[in-house]
Amino acid sequence: MPLTYRIRHYDTIGSTNDEAKRLASLGEPEGTVVSADEQTAGRGRSGRTWITPPGAAIAMSIILRPRIPAIHSTQIALLGGLAVLEGIRRIVDLPAQIKWPNDVLVRGKKVAGVLAEATFAGEALESVVLGMGVNVNAGPPPDFKLEYAATSLAAESGCPLDREAVMNAILAALDARYPQLGRPELAAAWSEHLAMRGEQVRVAGMTETIIGRLEGVTGEGAIVIRLESGEARMLLAGDVHLRGA
Ligand code: BTN
Repeated sequence: MPLTYRIRHYDTIGSTNDEAKRLASLGEPEGTVVSADEQTAGRGRSGRTWITPPGAAIAMSIILRPRIPAIHSTQIALLGGLAVLEGIRRIVDLPAQIKWPNDVLVRGKKVAGVLAEATFAGEALESVVLGMGVNVNAGPPPDFKLEYAATSLAAESGCPLDREAVMNAILAALDARYPQLGRPELAAAWSEHLAMRGEQVRVAGMTETIIGRLEGVTGEGAIVIRLESGEARMLLAGDVHLRGA
């Protein structure tokens, strides 16, 4: 089923994810997009703050109601990262990559992040709010303490870009990929665009850290790490952090 988008745009909002979650809980249909020129309480993964430079970035959250088993809900965040990457590439020729699970990098620096938040009704997946933050014409201010190097599409391409065009391209890419949830095409696309693919990486989890060669992504959205022993380990996103070894 194609997504029918309905945009609710705000000049300023706390967090587009929070507003989309509120609307989803009131029964707002799939395809509603909450977007804003500025967020005053933008949220990133793992409780981090996300800065949306006013008028220079994309902050949007899409309400999805995928008919997939709840166990597959982690794929939505990866789908979001892929849609951002493919949307960017429709507009500007940049070497964008996905840092698993769902950061988008250009030349090793982060240009976009994805925050997917699922709601369950008992065992069933009820809705997912897919939040995307893209540094289009500016990144976070230099004095903002980051755990990673950040950049913007404009800085990397050398020219300012039309935010709305980038946003529409991302939404079109999401629409094209959405029916592929749970299908092998997604695994192939994730693997193709994967940053550090073929390299030695370190994956730190809650209980152990493993080091091995990053081989690709499965259809479930797990990364495949080949250990020195030859054993392949698959890890799903969650409390694991991927770094170069
Ligand atoms: C991350 O990389 O940590 C994820 C960042 C996600 C930021 C986006 S901006 C739009 C939406 N609203 C939020 O509060 N967060 C997401």
